[in-house]
Amino acid sequence: MDVVSTSAVSAGNDAAGNDAASNVASEYVAAGLTDEGTVKALPVIPTITLNDGNTIPQIGLGVLRIDDEGVVPVVESALDLGYRHIDGAAGYNNEAGVGRALAQAGWNGDAQSPAIQQLAQETGADAQTLAQQRRQNLWVTTKLKDSEQGYDSTLAAFDRQLALLQLEYVDMYMIHWPTPFNWRSGETWRAMQELRDQGRVRTLGVCNFMPSDLERLHDETGEWPAVNQIELHPTWQQREVVRFCKDHNIAVEAYSPMARGADLQAGDGVIERIAAAHNVSPAQVILRWHIENGTIIIPKSVHASRQAENLDLFNFSLTPEEYSAIDELDGPTRAGHDPATFSYA
Ligand SMILES: NC(=O)c1ccc[n+]([C@@H]2O[C@H](COP(=O)([O-])OP(=O)(O)OC[C@H]3O[C@@H](n4cnc5c(N)ncnc54)[C@H](OP(=O)(O)O)[C@@H]3O)[C@@H](O)[C@H]2O)c1
Repeated sequence: MDVVSTSAVSAGNDAAGNDAASNVASEYVAAGLTDEGTVKALPVIPTITLNDGNTIPQIGLGVLRIDDEGVVPVVESALDLGYRHIDGAAGYNNEAGVGRALAQAGWNGDAQSPAIQQLAQETGADAQTLAQQRRQNLWVTTKLKDSEQGYDSTLAAFDRQLALLQLEYVDMYMIHWPTPFNWRSGETWRAMQELRDQGRVRTLGVCNFMPSDLERLHDETGEWPAVNQIELHPTWQQREVVRFCKDHNIAVEAYSPMARGADLQAGDGVIERIAAAHNVSPAQVILRWHIENGTIIIPKSVHASRQAENLDLFNFSLTPEEYSAIDELDGPTRAGHDPATFSYA
């Protein structure tokens, strides 16, 4: 990754009249310091504007199946590489670890954190401004456990989750599974609306909702969620759900975007051949296909080298033939569970 020297940060007033302190602050917030005191050039990640006006980075880091201790270095390395979106859940049993990582790395909005104090000292910028700008540049999602759906239980669960994350607000709070056989999404949503009114949640979303679940929620609350996070990858494209979401201005977020790795070899080597043609990896081909579809993606990797690869999707594009070849891989190959019958926790 390219590294540019601190001298690239200009002093004095820029053409727009912004003062030097805020320029320095935002430059460091956007890029972050290396150990050598230089500013790192980080990948630019596109954002998607949601139906509530908020903007979400199109790529995030998923943290499922990483234990509470193990998640700390994984989140820290992702932040260091330029990830500004973390996708977690109460059910992953690692919210405390995510919270420790954000605190230690100076991304939870706390101006007193040692990482922010050090950055303020090195840059001469105001610690409060640095802490606020960093927090504003980060998107943190968490999800409610199915067992805690319901009005009062959602409010209580959220208090616990926010404390574990050591945050003043989360960017998105989601219903994890619709559990249509034990439907409580309407009352749950009303509690989530209250949390949003209080400024402790910015965006409300759902996961695993089929069109019938989305309609049921809309009938009861008058609201469409901003985001529907669903299992989505080349061999399980869920076209009907995606079409419904697009028609109702609900952003689609793909979980298991590589089918937990299974799709890397999909189509008798189709993905691998496309990867070789562009000198990229099979993972990058699949993730690029999602990006070109306008889908938000949250690939999970515990390895820094793969985390970097999964962000590096903007130096090539698929030809129309390659795009069609991936589209044609669609099939009934679910990697996860059926939302009509499943409850996670
Ligand atoms: N809402 C829901 O119900 C729901 C359900 C499932 C998942 N999710 C979310 O979606 C996130 C991602 O889904 P997922 O973890 O199921 O699947 P995934 O992101 O499709 O795949 C993750 C697997 O691929 C490997 N991998 C990652 N990058 C790679 C690369 N560049 N090259 C080769 N292999 C690579 C990872 O291994 P290493 O870690 O060893 O690199 C891991 O085994 C989860 O972490 C979670 O946040 C949500």
